[in-house]
Amino acid sequence: MAEFKEISPNASTGAKLDNWLRNRFPTAFDAYRVHMSEYYAPKNFNFWYFFGSLALLVLVIQIVTGIFLVMHYKPDAATAFGSVEYIMRDVPWGWLIRYMHSTGASAFFIVVYLHMFKALIYGSYRKPRELVWIFGCMIFLMLMAEAFFGYLLPWGQMSYWGAQVIVNLFSAIPFVGDQLSLLIRGDYVVSDATLNRFFSFHVIAIPLVLLGLVVAHLFSLHDVGSNNPDGIDIKGPGQPKDAAGHPLDGIPFHPYYSVHDMVGVSVFLMVFSAIIFFAPELGGYFLEYNNFIPADSLKTPLHIAPVWYFTPFYSMLRATTDVMVNVFAIIVVLAAVWAFFRSRLSMIGKIAVVVIAAIAVVLLKNLDAKFWGVVVMGGAVIILFFLPWLDASPVRSIRYRPGWHKGVYGVLVVFFLVLGYLGIEPPSPMGTLIAQVGTIYYFGFFLLMPWWSRLGSFKAVPDRITFAH
Ligand code: HEM
Repeated sequence: MAEFKEISPNASTGAKLDNWLRNRFPTAFDAYRVHMSEYYAPKNFNFWYFFGSLALLVLVIQIVTGIFLVMHYKPDAATAFGSVEYIMRDVPWGWLIRYMHSTGASAFFIVVYLHMFKALIYGSYRKPRELVWIFGCMIFLMLMAEAFFGYLLPWGQMSYWGAQVIVNLFSAIPFVGDQLSLLIRGDYVVSDATLNRFFSFHVIAIPLVLLGLVVAHLFSLHDVGSNNPDGIDIKGPGQPKDAAGHPLDGIPFHPYYSVHDMVGVSVFLMVFSAIIFFAPELGGYFLEYNNFIPADSLKTPLHIAPVWYFTPFYSMLRATTDVMVNVFAIIVVLAAVWAFFRSRLSMIGKIAVVVIAAIAVVLLKNLDAKFWGVVVMGGAVIILFFLPWLDASPVRSIRYRPGWHKGVYGVLVVFFLVLGYLGIEPPSPMGTLIAQVGTIYYFGFFLLMPWWSRLGSFKAVPDRITFAH
Protein backbone atom coordinates (compact mmCIF):
# COMPACT_ATOMS: atom_id res chain seq x y z
CA MET A 1 0.00 0.00 0.00
CA ALA A 2 1.29 3.46 -0.87
CA GLU A 3 2.10 5.75 2.03
CA PHE A 4 -0.62 8.19 3.12
CA LYS A 5 0.23 11.84 2.41
CA GLU A 6 -0.63 14.23 5.23
CA ILE A 7 -2.10 17.67 4.52
CA SER A 8 -2.02 20.83 6.64
CA PRO A 9 -5.06 21.21 8.91
CA ASN A 10 -5.30 24.77 7.58
CA ALA A 11 -5.78 23.61 3.95
CA SER A 12 -9.06 24.44 2.22
CA THR A 13 -11.91 21.90 2.33
CA GLY A 14 -11.40 21.22 -1.41
CA ALA A 15 -7.71 20.47 -0.93
CA LYS A 16 -8.51 18.20 2.02
CA LEU A 17 -11.10 16.28 0.02
CA ASP A 18 -8.65 16.00 -2.88
CA ASN A 19 -5.97 14.62 -0.55
CA TRP A 20 -8.43 12.25 1.10
CA LEU A 21 -9.37 10.82 -2.30
CA ARG A 22 -5.80 10.66 -3.59
CA ASN A 23 -4.77 8.61 -0.57
CA ARG A 24 -7.60 6.16 -1.07
CA PHE A 25 -7.92 5.87 -4.86
CA PRO A 26 -4.59 6.78 -6.51
CA THR A 27 -5.40 4.54 -9.52
CA ALA A 28 -8.17 6.92 -10.60
CA PHE A 29 -5.80 9.88 -10.44
CA ASP A 30 -3.13 7.94 -12.35
CA ALA A 31 -5.69 7.03 -15.02
CA TYR A 32 -6.71 10.68 -15.36
CA ARG A 33 -3.05 11.66 -15.74
CA VAL A 34 -2.14 8.92 -18.23
CA HIS A 35 -5.26 9.23 -20.38
CA MET A 36 -6.14 12.91 -20.08
CA SER A 37 -3.84 15.55 -18.61
CA GLU A 38 -0.56 13.91 -19.68
CA TYR A 39 -1.73 12.08 -22.77
CA TYR A 40 0.10 13.96 -25.50
CA ALA A 41 -1.82 13.96 -28.77
CA PRO A 42 -0.48 15.41 -32.03
CA LYS A 43 -1.28 19.11 -32.35
CA ASN A 44 -2.65 18.80 -35.90
CA PHE A 45 -5.92 16.88 -35.32
CA ASN A 46 -8.54 18.05 -37.81
CA PHE A 47 -12.26 17.65 -38.51
CA TRP A 48 -11.98 13.87 -38.88
CA TYR A 49 -10.75 13.48 -35.31
CA PHE A 50 -14.09 14.60 -33.86
CA PHE A 51 -15.74 11.27 -34.52
CA GLY A 52 -13.96 9.13 -31.91
CA SER A 53 -15.23 11.28 -29.04
CA LEU A 54 -18.63 11.55 -30.74
CA ALA A 55 -18.82 7.75 -30.89
CA LEU A 56 -18.21 7.75 -27.13
CA LEU A 57 -20.96 10.31 -26.65
CA VAL A 58 -23.46 8.28 -28.70
CA LEU A 59 -22.50 5.15 -26.75
CA VAL A 60 -23.41 6.94 -23.52
CA ILE A 61 -26.66 8.29 -25.03
CA GLN A 62 -27.66 4.78 -26.13
CA ILE A 63 -26.92 3.24 -22.75
CA VAL A 64 -28.73 5.93 -20.73
CA THR A 65 -31.81 6.10 -22.97
CA GLY A 66 -31.78 2.29 -23.16
CA ILE A 67 -31.96 2.02 -19.37
CA PHE A 68 -35.08 4.21 -19.32
CA LEU A 69 -36.70 2.37 -22.22
CA VAL A 70 -36.28 -0.97 -20.44
CA MET A 71 -38.28 0.43 -17.50
CA HIS A 72 -41.41 0.48 -19.67
CA TYR A 73 -40.75 -1.95 -22.52
CA LYS A 74 -42.17 -5.51 -22.38
CA PRO A 75 -40.14 -8.25 -24.12
CA ASP A 76 -43.18 -10.37 -24.93
CA ALA A 77 -44.55 -11.02 -28.43
CA ALA A 78 -48.10 -10.23 -27.22
CA THR A 79 -47.28 -6.89 -25.61
CA ALA A 80 -43.99 -5.61 -27.10
CA PHE A 81 -45.52 -3.47 -29.86
CA GLY A 82 -48.10 -2.04 -27.46
CA SER A 83 -45.48 -1.24 -24.84
CA VAL A 84 -43.54 0.86 -27.39
CA GLU A 85 -46.76 2.72 -28.28
CA TYR A 86 -47.33 3.20 -24.55
CA ILE A 87 -43.82 4.70 -24.22
CA MET A 88 -44.53 7.02 -27.16
CA ARG A 89 -47.94 8.23 -25.96
CA ASP A 90 -48.32 7.79 -22.19
CA VAL A 91 -44.93 7.67 -20.49
CA PRO A 92 -43.86 11.24 -19.59
CA TRP A 93 -41.07 12.18 -22.03
CA GLY A 94 -41.17 8.61 -23.34
CA TRP A 95 -41.32 9.84 -26.93
CA LEU A 96 -38.11 11.80 -26.41
CA ILE A 97 -36.28 8.86 -24.86
CA ARG A 98 -37.44 6.55 -27.65
CA TYR A 99 -36.57 8.97 -30.45
CA MET A 100 -33.18 9.65 -28.89
CA HIS A 101 -32.51 5.91 -28.87
CA SER A 102 -33.77 5.25 -32.41
CA THR A 103 -31.99 8.30 -33.85
CA GLY A 104 -28.93 7.38 -31.76
CA ALA A 105 -28.72 4.02 -33.53
CA SER A 106 -28.38 5.71 -36.94
CA ALA A 107 -26.14 8.43 -35.52
CA PHE A 108 -23.86 5.74 -34.12
CA PHE A 109 -23.31 4.26 -37.57
CA ILE A 110 -22.85 7.66 -39.25
CA VAL A 111 -20.24 8.62 -36.66
CA VAL A 112 -18.51 5.22 -36.75
CA TYR A 113 -18.41 5.09 -40.57
CA LEU A 114 -16.78 8.55 -40.62
CA HIS A 115 -14.40 7.48 -37.84
CA MET A 116 -13.39 4.40 -39.85
CA PHE A 117 -12.93 6.55 -42.95
CA LYS A 118 -10.51 8.77 -41.01
CA ALA A 119 -8.46 5.70 -40.06
CA LEU A 120 -8.53 4.56 -43.70
CA ILE A 121 -7.27 7.80 -45.24
CA TYR A 122 -4.59 8.52 -42.64
CA GLY A 123 -3.37 4.92 -42.41
CA SER A 124 -4.14 4.85 -38.67
CA TYR A 125 -4.46 1.04 -38.81
CA ARG A 126 -0.81 0.53 -39.68
CA LYS A 127 2.02 -0.48 -37.39
CA PRO A 128 2.00 0.07 -34.40
CA ARG A 129 -1.80 0.59 -34.29
CA GLU A 130 -2.91 -2.78 -35.70
CA LEU A 131 -4.59 -3.75 -32.43
CA VAL A 132 -6.39 -0.41 -32.16
CA TRP A 133 -7.83 -1.14 -35.58
CA ILE A 134 -8.66 -4.78 -34.77
CA PHE A 135 -10.50 -3.75 -31.61
CA GLY A 136 -12.28 -1.17 -33.79
CA CYS A 137 -13.35 -3.86 -36.27
CA MET A 138 -14.62 -6.00 -33.40
CA ILE A 139 -16.58 -2.99 -32.13
CA PHE A 140 -18.05 -2.56 -35.62
CA LEU A 141 -19.15 -6.23 -35.69
CA MET A 142 -20.67 -5.95 -32.21
CA LEU A 143 -22.40 -2.72 -33.17
CA MET A 144 -24.02 -4.47 -36.12
CA ALA A 145 -25.15 -7.32 -33.84
CA GLU A 146 -26.46 -4.82 -31.28
CA ALA A 147 -28.47 -2.94 -33.92
CA PHE A 148 -29.81 -6.15 -35.44
CA PHE A 149 -31.01 -7.54 -32.09
CA GLY A 150 -32.45 -4.18 -31.07
CA TYR A 151 -34.44 -3.83 -34.26
CA LEU A 152 -36.61 -6.87 -33.45
CA LEU A 153 -37.74 -5.42 -30.11
CA PRO A 154 -40.50 -3.00 -31.31
CA TRP A 155 -42.09 -6.09 -32.90
CA GLY A 156 -43.25 -4.21 -36.01
CA GLN A 157 -43.60 -5.74 -39.47
CA MET A 158 -40.03 -4.80 -40.46
CA SER A 159 -38.64 -6.01 -37.15
CA TYR A 160 -40.27 -9.36 -37.67
CA TRP A 161 -39.61 -9.91 -41.35
CA GLY A 162 -36.13 -8.42 -41.28
CA ALA A 163 -35.17 -10.86 -38.54
CA GLN A 164 -36.83 -13.70 -40.47
CA VAL A 165 -34.80 -12.92 -43.62
CA ILE A 166 -31.47 -12.49 -41.84
CA VAL A 167 -31.80 -15.54 -39.58
CA ASN A 168 -32.84 -17.63 -42.59
CA LEU A 169 -29.54 -16.70 -44.24
CA PHE A 170 -27.74 -18.85 -41.69
CA SER A 171 -29.64 -21.89 -42.95
CA ALA A 172 -27.70 -21.53 -46.24
CA ILE A 173 -24.53 -22.68 -44.44
CA PRO A 174 -23.87 -26.31 -45.45
CA PHE A 175 -24.41 -29.11 -42.89
CA VAL A 176 -25.04 -26.96 -39.78
CA GLY A 177 -27.17 -24.17 -41.29
CA ASP A 178 -30.64 -25.42 -40.33
CA GLN A 179 -29.64 -26.29 -36.78
CA LEU A 180 -27.86 -22.97 -36.43
CA SER A 181 -30.82 -20.86 -37.50
CA LEU A 182 -33.06 -22.93 -35.22
CA LEU A 183 -30.68 -22.22 -32.36
CA ILE A 184 -30.69 -18.46 -33.09
CA ARG A 185 -34.49 -18.27 -33.32
CA GLY A 186 -35.25 -20.76 -30.55
CA ASP A 187 -38.19 -21.81 -32.71
CA TYR A 188 -39.03 -22.76 -36.30
CA VAL A 189 -40.10 -19.20 -37.07
CA VAL A 190 -39.30 -15.87 -35.43
CA SER A 191 -41.42 -15.96 -32.27
CA ASP A 192 -41.69 -15.01 -28.62
CA ALA A 193 -38.63 -17.15 -27.85
CA THR A 194 -36.64 -15.19 -30.44
CA LEU A 195 -37.80 -11.88 -29.00
CA ASN A 196 -36.69 -12.94 -25.51
CA ARG A 197 -33.20 -13.99 -26.51
CA PHE A 198 -32.70 -10.95 -28.76
CA PHE A 199 -33.79 -8.75 -25.84
CA SER A 200 -31.28 -10.44 -23.57
CA PHE A 201 -28.45 -9.97 -26.07
CA HIS A 202 -29.45 -6.39 -26.83
CA VAL A 203 -29.69 -5.11 -23.27
CA ILE A 204 -26.89 -6.92 -21.52
CA ALA A 205 -24.61 -9.32 -23.42
CA ILE A 206 -23.56 -7.15 -26.37
CA PRO A 207 -23.38 -3.84 -24.44
CA LEU A 208 -21.00 -5.48 -21.95
CA VAL A 209 -18.77 -6.76 -24.74
CA LEU A 210 -19.00 -3.40 -26.50
CA LEU A 211 -17.92 -1.50 -23.38
CA GLY A 212 -14.99 -3.87 -22.83
CA LEU A 213 -13.93 -3.47 -26.44
CA VAL A 214 -14.13 0.33 -26.29
CA VAL A 215 -11.87 0.31 -23.20
CA ALA A 216 -9.41 -2.02 -24.98
CA HIS A 217 -9.62 0.22 -28.09
CA LEU A 218 -8.68 3.34 -26.13
CA PHE A 219 -6.06 1.74 -23.89
CA SER A 220 -4.30 0.18 -26.87
CA LEU A 221 -4.42 3.55 -28.66
CA HIS A 222 -2.96 5.38 -25.68
CA ASP A 223 -0.20 2.79 -25.29
CA VAL A 224 1.14 3.46 -28.79
CA GLY A 225 -0.05 7.07 -29.22
CA SER A 226 -2.43 8.65 -31.72
CA ASN A 227 -1.77 8.91 -35.41
CA ASN A 228 -2.55 12.22 -37.18
CA PRO A 229 -3.32 13.63 -40.64
CA ASP A 230 0.39 13.63 -41.53
CA GLY A 231 0.88 10.03 -40.41
CA ILE A 232 4.04 10.97 -38.49
CA ASP A 233 4.75 9.34 -35.11
CA ILE A 234 5.34 12.33 -32.80
CA LYS A 235 6.61 10.02 -30.07
CA GLY A 236 8.83 8.03 -32.44
CA PRO A 237 12.67 8.01 -32.48
CA GLY A 238 14.26 11.21 -33.76
CA GLN A 239 11.19 13.32 -32.93
CA PRO A 240 11.92 16.39 -30.75
CA LYS A 241 10.94 16.08 -27.09
CA ASP A 242 11.02 18.49 -24.13
CA ALA A 243 13.07 17.96 -20.95
CA ALA A 244 10.31 15.80 -19.47
CA GLY A 245 10.32 13.58 -22.60
CA HIS A 246 7.00 14.92 -23.94
CA PRO A 247 6.85 15.30 -27.74
CA LEU A 248 7.18 18.91 -28.92
CA ASP A 249 4.55 18.30 -31.60
CA GLY A 250 2.05 17.05 -29.06
CA ILE A 251 -0.34 18.82 -26.70
CA PRO A 252 -2.01 17.39 -23.57
CA PHE A 253 -5.38 15.86 -24.39
CA HIS A 254 -6.91 17.75 -21.48
CA PRO A 255 -7.60 20.67 -21.69
CA TYR A 256 -6.73 21.15 -25.38
CA TYR A 257 -8.64 18.36 -27.08
CA SER A 258 -11.31 17.98 -24.40
CA VAL A 259 -12.27 21.60 -25.16
CA HIS A 260 -11.73 21.17 -28.91
CA ASP A 261 -14.04 18.14 -28.92
CA MET A 262 -16.78 20.31 -27.37
CA VAL A 263 -17.10 22.03 -30.75
CA GLY A 264 -17.83 18.68 -32.39
CA VAL A 265 -20.21 17.74 -29.57
CA SER A 266 -22.12 21.05 -29.91
CA VAL A 267 -22.56 20.75 -33.67
CA PHE A 268 -23.48 17.08 -33.33
CA LEU A 269 -26.10 17.81 -30.65
CA MET A 270 -27.66 20.54 -32.81
CA VAL A 271 -28.08 18.17 -35.76
CA PHE A 272 -29.13 15.29 -33.49
CA SER A 273 -31.80 17.43 -31.77
CA ALA A 274 -33.05 18.83 -35.09
CA ILE A 275 -33.66 15.27 -36.31
CA ILE A 276 -35.30 14.16 -33.06
CA PHE A 277 -37.64 17.16 -32.88
CA PHE A 278 -38.44 17.74 -36.54
CA ALA A 279 -37.88 14.50 -38.49
CA PRO A 280 -37.43 11.51 -36.17
CA GLU A 281 -38.30 9.03 -38.93
CA LEU A 282 -36.04 10.87 -41.37
CA GLY A 283 -38.17 9.98 -44.35
CA GLY A 284 -38.33 6.32 -43.36
CA TYR A 285 -34.56 5.91 -43.21
CA PHE A 286 -34.18 6.06 -39.43
CA LEU A 287 -37.56 4.50 -38.59
CA GLU A 288 -39.15 2.51 -41.39
CA TYR A 289 -42.85 3.13 -42.06
CA ASN A 290 -43.65 -0.59 -42.11
CA ASN A 291 -42.48 -0.81 -38.54
CA PHE A 292 -45.46 1.21 -37.36
CA ILE A 293 -47.59 -1.86 -38.23
CA PRO A 294 -47.58 -4.67 -35.61
CA ALA A 295 -45.73 -7.85 -36.60
CA ASP A 296 -47.94 -10.31 -38.46
CA SER A 297 -46.51 -13.74 -39.24
CA LEU A 298 -49.18 -14.25 -41.92
CA LYS A 299 -48.55 -11.04 -43.91
CA THR A 300 -45.16 -10.72 -45.60
CA PRO A 301 -44.47 -7.07 -46.58
CA LEU A 302 -44.01 -6.55 -50.33
CA HIS A 303 -40.51 -5.21 -49.91
CA ILE A 304 -38.24 -6.11 -47.00
CA ALA A 305 -35.09 -4.01 -46.58
CA PRO A 306 -32.80 -3.63 -43.59
CA VAL A 307 -32.09 -0.22 -42.05
CA TRP A 308 -29.74 1.96 -44.15
CA TYR A 309 -26.56 1.16 -42.21
CA PHE A 310 -26.74 -2.51 -43.21
CA THR A 311 -27.68 -1.97 -46.83
CA PRO A 312 -24.18 -1.74 -48.41
CA PHE A 313 -23.53 -5.25 -47.12
CA TYR A 314 -27.06 -6.42 -47.88
CA SER A 315 -26.58 -5.23 -51.48
CA MET A 316 -23.48 -7.39 -51.76
CA LEU A 317 -25.52 -10.37 -50.56
CA ARG A 318 -28.22 -9.72 -53.18
CA ALA A 319 -25.60 -9.13 -55.88
CA THR A 320 -24.28 -12.67 -55.42
CA THR A 321 -26.42 -14.39 -58.04
CA ASP A 322 -25.52 -17.55 -60.02
CA VAL A 323 -23.97 -15.31 -62.71
CA MET A 324 -21.88 -13.54 -60.07
CA VAL A 325 -20.68 -16.90 -58.71
CA ASN A 326 -19.51 -17.74 -62.26
CA VAL A 327 -17.64 -14.42 -62.36
CA PHE A 328 -15.98 -15.34 -59.04
CA ALA A 329 -14.96 -18.71 -60.53
CA ILE A 330 -13.42 -16.96 -63.56
CA ILE A 331 -11.55 -14.54 -61.27
CA VAL A 332 -10.20 -17.47 -59.23
CA VAL A 333 -9.01 -19.25 -62.41
CA LEU A 334 -7.35 -16.09 -63.77
CA ALA A 335 -5.62 -15.47 -60.42
CA ALA A 336 -4.34 -19.07 -60.38
CA VAL A 337 -3.05 -18.77 -63.99
CA TRP A 338 -1.28 -15.54 -63.08
CA ALA A 339 0.22 -17.11 -59.94
CA PHE A 340 1.44 -20.07 -61.96
CA PHE A 341 3.08 -18.25 -64.86
CA ARG A 342 3.98 -14.81 -63.53
CA SER A 343 4.51 -14.96 -59.78
CA ARG A 344 7.85 -15.60 -58.08
CA LEU A 345 6.45 -18.52 -56.06
CA SER A 346 8.42 -21.80 -55.83
CA MET A 347 7.14 -24.74 -57.91
CA ILE A 348 5.53 -26.28 -54.81
CA GLY A 349 3.87 -22.94 -54.05
CA LYS A 350 2.52 -22.73 -57.59
CA ILE A 351 1.11 -26.25 -57.46
CA ALA A 352 -0.50 -25.48 -54.09
CA VAL A 353 -2.16 -22.35 -55.57
CA VAL A 354 -3.53 -24.36 -58.49
CA VAL A 355 -4.90 -27.08 -56.18
CA ILE A 356 -6.55 -24.50 -53.88
CA ALA A 357 -8.03 -22.68 -56.89
CA ALA A 358 -9.41 -25.99 -58.28
CA ILE A 359 -11.05 -26.76 -54.92
CA ALA A 360 -12.45 -23.21 -54.77
CA VAL A 361 -13.97 -23.52 -58.25
CA VAL A 362 -15.54 -26.91 -57.42
CA LEU A 363 -17.05 -25.45 -54.24
CA LEU A 364 -18.23 -22.29 -56.03
CA LYS A 365 -20.03 -24.35 -58.66
CA ASN A 366 -21.54 -26.87 -56.23
CA LEU A 367 -22.76 -24.79 -53.31
CA ASP A 368 -25.83 -22.57 -53.49
CA ALA A 369 -25.36 -18.92 -54.59
CA LYS A 370 -27.30 -17.94 -51.43
CA PHE A 371 -24.50 -19.46 -49.36
CA TRP A 372 -21.87 -17.51 -51.30
CA GLY A 373 -23.93 -14.38 -50.77
CA VAL A 374 -23.63 -14.92 -47.03
CA VAL A 375 -19.89 -15.50 -47.42
CA VAL A 376 -19.54 -12.29 -49.45
CA MET A 377 -21.57 -10.27 -46.96
CA GLY A 378 -19.60 -11.59 -43.98
CA GLY A 379 -16.32 -11.40 -45.89
CA ALA A 380 -16.90 -7.71 -46.63
CA VAL A 381 -16.63 -7.00 -42.88
CA ILE A 382 -14.02 -9.65 -42.04
CA ILE A 383 -11.65 -8.37 -44.73
CA LEU A 384 -11.35 -5.10 -42.78
CA PHE A 385 -9.49 -6.95 -40.01
CA PHE A 386 -6.64 -7.67 -42.44
CA LEU A 387 -6.21 -4.11 -43.64
CA PRO A 388 -2.99 -3.47 -41.64
CA TRP A 389 -1.31 -6.30 -43.55
CA LEU A 390 -2.80 -5.53 -46.96
CA ASP A 391 -1.59 -1.95 -47.23
CA ALA A 392 1.96 -1.92 -48.61
CA SER A 393 2.26 1.82 -49.22
CA PRO A 394 5.57 3.33 -48.05
CA VAL A 395 3.66 6.17 -46.33
CA ARG A 396 0.70 6.19 -43.95
CA SER A 397 -1.31 9.26 -44.80
CA ILE A 398 -3.21 9.91 -48.02
CA ARG A 399 -1.56 13.37 -48.00
CA TYR A 400 1.71 11.90 -49.22
CA ARG A 401 0.34 9.26 -51.58
CA PRO A 402 0.12 9.68 -55.35
CA GLY A 403 -2.87 11.77 -56.49
CA TRP A 404 -4.58 8.83 -58.19
CA HIS A 405 -4.72 6.94 -54.88
CA LYS A 406 -7.25 9.56 -53.78
CA GLY A 407 -9.30 8.57 -56.83
CA VAL A 408 -9.11 4.89 -55.83
CA TYR A 409 -10.37 5.75 -52.31
CA GLY A 410 -13.00 8.11 -53.75
CA VAL A 411 -14.45 5.43 -56.03
CA LEU A 412 -14.62 3.05 -53.05
CA VAL A 413 -16.67 5.61 -51.11
CA VAL A 414 -18.97 6.24 -54.08
CA PHE A 415 -19.56 2.51 -54.59
CA PHE A 416 -20.18 2.04 -50.86
CA LEU A 417 -22.85 4.77 -50.94
CA VAL A 418 -24.36 3.41 -54.16
CA LEU A 419 -24.45 -0.11 -52.68
CA GLY A 420 -26.16 1.38 -49.63
CA TYR A 421 -28.77 3.09 -51.80
CA LEU A 422 -29.39 0.00 -53.95
CA GLY A 423 -29.87 -2.15 -50.82
CA ILE A 424 -32.82 0.00 -49.76
CA GLU A 425 -34.49 -0.19 -53.20
CA PRO A 426 -36.35 -3.27 -54.50
CA PRO A 427 -34.06 -5.37 -56.74
CA SER A 428 -33.90 -4.51 -60.46
CA PRO A 429 -31.70 -5.94 -63.26
CA MET A 430 -29.77 -2.65 -63.60
CA GLY A 431 -29.44 -2.26 -59.83
CA THR A 432 -28.12 -5.82 -59.50
CA LEU A 433 -25.54 -5.22 -62.23
CA ILE A 434 -24.29 -2.03 -60.58
CA ALA A 435 -24.21 -3.78 -57.19
CA GLN A 436 -22.14 -6.57 -58.74
CA VAL A 437 -19.61 -4.11 -60.13
CA GLY A 438 -19.53 -2.35 -56.74
CA THR A 439 -19.00 -5.64 -54.91
CA ILE A 440 -16.11 -6.60 -57.18
CA TYR A 441 -14.57 -3.14 -56.73
CA TYR A 442 -14.93 -3.34 -52.94
CA PHE A 443 -13.14 -6.68 -52.73
CA GLY A 444 -10.65 -5.69 -55.44
CA PHE A 445 -9.74 -2.58 -53.43
CA PHE A 446 -8.71 -4.69 -50.43
CA LEU A 447 -7.43 -7.88 -52.06
CA LEU A 448 -5.28 -6.06 -54.63
CA MET A 449 -4.07 -3.51 -52.10
CA PRO A 450 -0.68 -5.23 -51.60
CA TRP A 451 -0.10 -4.50 -55.28
CA TRP A 452 -1.65 -1.11 -56.06
CA SER A 453 -0.86 0.61 -52.76
CA ARG A 454 2.88 0.63 -53.53
CA LEU A 455 2.49 1.98 -57.09
CA GLY A 456 2.99 5.62 -58.17
CA SER A 457 5.25 8.39 -57.01
CA PHE A 458 4.94 9.24 -53.33
CA LYS A 459 5.55 12.71 -51.88
CA ALA A 460 8.36 13.15 -49.36
CA VAL A 461 7.02 12.90 -45.79
CA PRO A 462 8.22 15.89 -43.71
CA ASP A 463 10.36 15.23 -40.61
CA ARG A 464 7.84 16.87 -38.31
CA ILE A 465 4.10 17.33 -38.52
CA THR A 466 2.93 20.30 -40.56
CA PHE A 467 0.45 22.58 -38.88
CA ALA A 468 -0.65 26.15 -39.41
CA HIS A 469 -3.11 27.95 -37.14
C1 HEM B 1 -18.15 2.50 -30.17
C2 HEM B 1 -17.40 2.77 -31.19
C3 HEM B 1 -16.07 3.48 -31.12
C4 HEM B 1 -15.63 4.37 -30.17
C5 HEM B 1 -16.37 4.89 -28.96
C6 HEM B 1 -14.29 4.77 -30.57
C7 HEM B 1 -13.53 5.69 -29.89
C8 HEM B 1 -12.30 6.18 -30.33
C9 HEM B 1 -11.62 7.33 -29.77
C10 HEM B 1 -12.17 8.20 -28.63
C11 HEM B 1 -10.46 7.48 -30.45
C12 HEM B 1 -9.41 8.58 -30.24
C13 HEM B 1 -9.85 9.83 -30.96
C14 HEM B 1 -9.83 9.73 -32.46
O1 HEM B 1 -8.82 9.28 -33.01
O2 HEM B 1 -10.86 10.06 -33.09
C15 HEM B 1 -10.37 6.42 -31.43
C16 HEM B 1 -9.31 6.21 -32.33
C17 HEM B 1 -9.29 5.23 -33.31
N1 HEM B 1 -10.33 4.36 -33.66
FE1 HEM B 1 -12.08 4.22 -32.68
N2 HEM B 1 -13.92 4.10 -31.72
C18 HEM B 1 -14.99 3.30 -32.08
C19 HEM B 1 -15.06 2.48 -33.20
C20 HEM B 1 -14.01 2.27 -34.10
C21 HEM B 1 -14.09 1.43 -35.26
C22 HEM B 1 -15.34 0.68 -35.69
C23 HEM B 1 -12.86 1.47 -35.86
C24 HEM B 1 -12.36 0.77 -37.10
C25 HEM B 1 -12.81 -0.35 -37.56
C26 HEM B 1 -12.00 2.34 -35.09
C27 HEM B 1 -10.67 2.63 -35.37
C28 HEM B 1 -9.90 3.58 -34.71
C29 HEM B 1 -8.53 3.90 -35.03
C30 HEM B 1 -7.65 3.24 -36.09
C31 HEM B 1 -8.15 4.94 -34.16
C32 HEM B 1 -6.80 5.67 -34.12
C33 HEM B 1 -6.97 6.92 -34.93
C34 HEM B 1 -5.71 7.73 -35.06
O3 HEM B 1 -4.91 7.71 -34.12
O4 HEM B 1 -5.57 8.36 -36.13
N3 HEM B 1 -12.74 2.81 -34.03
N4 HEM B 1 -11.52 5.64 -31.33
